[in-house]
Amino acid sequence: MKKLYIAAFVAFAAFASGTHAAERPGHAAIASAHTLATRAGFEVLAEGGNAFDAAIAVASTLSVVEPQSSGIGGGGFFMLHRASDGKNVMLDARETAPAAVRESQYLKPDGTPNRDTALYGPLAAGIPGEPAALVWLAAHYGKLPLAKSLAPAIRIARAGFQPGQGFLDAIAGHREQIARYAGTKALLMPNGDVPKAGWTFRNPDLAATLERIAAHGDDGFYKGKTAQLMLKAVKETGGDWSAADLANYKVVEREPLSFDYRGWKIVTVAPPSSGGVALEEMFNVLSGYDLGAMDRAQRLHYIIEAMRRAFRDHNEYLGDPDFVKMPLATLLSPQYAAGLRASILPDKATPSAMLPSAVAHAPGMHTTHFSIVDADGNMVATTQTVNTHFGSCLVPPGTGVFLNNEMDDFALVPGAPNAYGLLGNKANAPAPGKRMLSSMTPTFVFGPERVGVIGSPGGSTIITQVFEGLLAFMHGDSAAQIAAKPRYHHQYLPDVVYAEPDAFDAATEKALVGMGYDIQQRGHWGFMNVVTWNLRTNKLDAASDPRHASGLGEVR
Ligand code: DON
Repeated sequence: MKKLYIAAFVAFAAFASGTHAAERPGHAAIASAHTLATRAGFEVLAEGGNAFDAAIAVASTLSVVEPQSSGIGGGGFFMLHRASDGKNVMLDARETAPAAVRESQYLKPDGTPNRDTALYGPLAAGIPGEPAALVWLAAHYGKLPLAKSLAPAIRIARAGFQPGQGFLDAIAGHREQIARYAGTKALLMPNGDVPKAGWTFRNPDLAATLERIAAHGDDGFYKGKTAQLMLKAVKETGGDWSAADLANYKVVEREPLSFDYRGWKIVTVAPPSSGGVALEEMFNVLSGYDLGAMDRAQRLHYIIEAMRRAFRDHNEYLGDPDFVKMPLATLLSPQYAAGLRASILPDKATPSAMLPSAVAHAPGMHTTHFSIVDADGNMVATTQTVNTHFGSCLVPPGTGVFLNNEMDDFALVPGAPNAYGLLGNKANAPAPGKRMLSSMTPTFVFGPERVGVIGSPGGSTIITQVFEGLLAFMHGDSAAQIAAKPRYHHQYLPDVVYAEPDAFDAATEKALVGMGYDIQQRGHWGFMNVVTWNLRTNKLDAASDPRHASGLGEVR
């Protein structure tokens, strides 16, 4: 038995570190936020594609069917695991600031923050990264030509589909901003108001844009007709993008953050996401406690204190690694974690006010995550976004592309909070060509017997959702249990534990309140899409968050 375990562990260590490639599930699993996107992924697998081709199909289809959340006018992070050599890599397709970015663009004449320009219209939009990521995936990791992997999205964009209530509600929530821009209004409110259920949404311009990308790669988006249409619309609506801003956009392959926690290997995003750093810091803190020996309230106390401390740090120090120096070696050292543990009392919440520094943010609900494992064991975890619903609400006429409003993820105006309550600092100040800090945390977890692919939208709660999801996975929960698990969240400031209605039983809640926690219910959040792989049985499992009706996790 012991021998078997050691053999399994050695195989796993080799697998996770990229020196072993024998594992092969023989079937595939995809979990995404939309049934049509999950099916598009399987369609491309059936054509001979791998997980990376499927990721192109799922992402481009989400661009069509869930434009309120993500799309080719936005960006994201892809975690890739290539089975043939075990390579783990982070593909950074985060948007960049245009060269003309100025703080004054986000200030009203009286010098106070202009939340409108930060969130809506051309000044809110960063240079999109998603198209370059799709081109890169096809060129470097996929097996199929881009035209094949984009085909389902192109077909659905032309044929149309009937959006669900979430989509219609998102239109209703942004009626005023959508009406400002002719290209957006024509698409989303063709009759002048929010469409009724049963409406068929078509986006033939987006189909044509995707076809240009299929035919010309990067040049199909960042140069030529698409670029001209975007530059024209941005200029006409008061923005300032140059042809060079678009032509110079590049995705970046980055070394993922990779760390161990009690025999599990976690491979996740590096900056410009703050998520991986926060995850590693939280797990480092937990590694000093015997959580299994504690009652639930005690365990939650240490978990929440780890969250509080990680969130204090994460916005303080982090930004685009190509622009700022970050004290990562310190933040991620065992000594630093020991120092954090030393400040945690065993039976009392630490008031955030006792921990110096002051940054915080609060969640939203408009971004998407999907997870894929293919028959060969290639894996993709990716979280992508246009930021808030429909991004900037600006669709350059003729493109069908919803431009993001990711500029708001920068600390645009010192001291002014962003859409997630984030107070920024120099590390995340905007600069030409710089990437804005993100919370998106697509993650792989490798264990001796099980592998997990996990992530979710939800602004700052992304990080705690992934953290709790990983703890549940390590505890042995299934994909469906992980996606359904009630959530709680602490982000340093406000000094509150947010809890879904069923997160704590009465006795646990009472014990936590007794330790000094302020627990507040705040509905449900997140849209987790998980795939798990049992290496012993080679069985895959996929689950989409039961909080939403549109998603689909499927194994074929
Ligand atoms: O990159 C980020 O952290 C945000 N733009 C993500 C926004 C998000 O998750 C919105 N909500 N669900």
